Amino acid sequence: MPLDLSDESQYDRARLRQWARGRARSAGVDRRDLLRLFAAGAAAGSLGLGAAGSAEAAAQGAAAAPGPGTAAAVAPPGIVKPLPPELFTVRGTNAETNFASLRGTGPLTPVDRFFVRNHTSTPRIEASGWRLNVWGDALAGGPVEFSYDRLRSLPAVERTLFVECAGNGRSFYSSQQGQQVTGTAWTLGAIGVARWRGARLSDVLRRAGVTRAAVDVLPRGLDDEVVTNGVNLGRVRRPLPVSKALDDVILAYEMNGEPLPPDHGGPVRVIVPSWIGISSVKWVGDIEVSAEPLYTPWNTDLYRFFGPGQPPQGSAPLTRQTLKSAFELEAGATLPVHRTRLLTGRSWSGAAPVHRVEVSTDGGARWQRARLHDAPRRGGWVRWSLPWTPRATGPAALLARATDATGRTQPATAVHNTQGYLFDAVVRHPVTVV
Ligand code: MTE
Repeated sequence: MPLDLSDESQYDRARLRQWARGRARSAGVDRRDLLRLFAAGAAAGSLGLGAAGSAEAAAQGAAAAPGPGTAAAVAPPGIVKPLPPELFTVRGTNAETNFASLRGTGPLTPVDRFFVRNHTSTPRIEASGWRLNVWGDALAGGPVEFSYDRLRSLPAVERTLFVECAGNGRSFYSSQQGQQVTGTAWTLGAIGVARWRGARLSDVLRRAGVTRAAVDVLPRGLDDEVVTNGVNLGRVRRPLPVSKALDDVILAYEMNGEPLPPDHGGPVRVIVPSWIGISSVKWVGDIEVSAEPLYTPWNTDLYRFFGPGQPPQGSAPLTRQTLKSAFELEAGATLPVHRTRLLTGRSWSGAAPVHRVEVSTDGGARWQRARLHDAPRRGGWVRWSLPWTPRATGPAALLARATDATGRTQPATAVHNTQGYLFDAVVRHPVTVV
């Protein structure tokens, strides 16, 4: 029976087989280069790319051990907005949101504290000169161009959704599980939730004349090409199965009611609900609509599971985000004994709305249900709280674990993979009671 490549799970399995047999076209990168990188990635589990490209990757190194001299090698991050240390931790070309800075903010992450993940640096692109070129062999005619005004004239949709890096929480593979991983050493702040407004990608594809032959849809960013280990990987791009592209993907031009800021992909970015952040291509400049399967480094040697229990070519490309919880509190915070403190935090899941959050203040022996402050919603997060009155001085570990509507609860341990993706285990949040 012929495979239905518009079905997501069949798509993943089929692509994996085609890639292994060398049948898929590697869009824009020499296949030998990709295979070389791919072999290196599988063997050493290290491309350094999680930390962004080129020199910065070398400066960042493994998440487990930044190493001496790292600070001296760090270049300016190439991010336009201010990055005050109380709001962000700069990691190479990226800026992680300090979760404590979300305390007291609403359900949306304000732009001034929304994390930034850049492979290179933020380009400045004027909306007036911006064009989206839609092209490829699965269109009925030739390429079709959309200006900013034309995009804005299409029916608008608005949705509250998270963007979360696949490597969010990566540092806990090392610090909590003693496992080596490569890439940016995020704690839990490589996530933000915003109200995105834009046009449906499906409307754009239909107006461009997408045909039934379409299999993959490949948005590409206008930021600089990514160079790693001497190989130019080209511009950031990652194919989407046509089923997802025609389903709920947005071409966003507004974030929290304002024009999309430069660091978050302005004037226009892709937003792929519930999928790992790399799918949500910023500064989108063109979209290929292809009748044959497409491969790029971002769905071959990156953003798959590699390591024990995985095939040598890695798992199928990662798609949906996983389940996590975070306290809105500094790691290592000092709290006064016998004084009631309202512990607050957020939980989210790529699979289904989070409908239960439990908190432990004694390192995991006993759990109490936290109060939820938002209606559980898919693709977003819930804020929660629990009052705590510490009774004894000394170090303590706070834990929060979420359960989503699929019935899945955060596990005690995340399954290791060499690039440290999709960490989902309960995180031990250290505090000191004085
Ligand atoms: N798109 C382009 N063009 N270039 C990039 O470097 N980074 C991706 C994605 N889209 C990236 C991109 C990654 S890995 C993530 S997690 C999100 O953008 C981050 O979005 P943000 O910077 O708006 O938080």
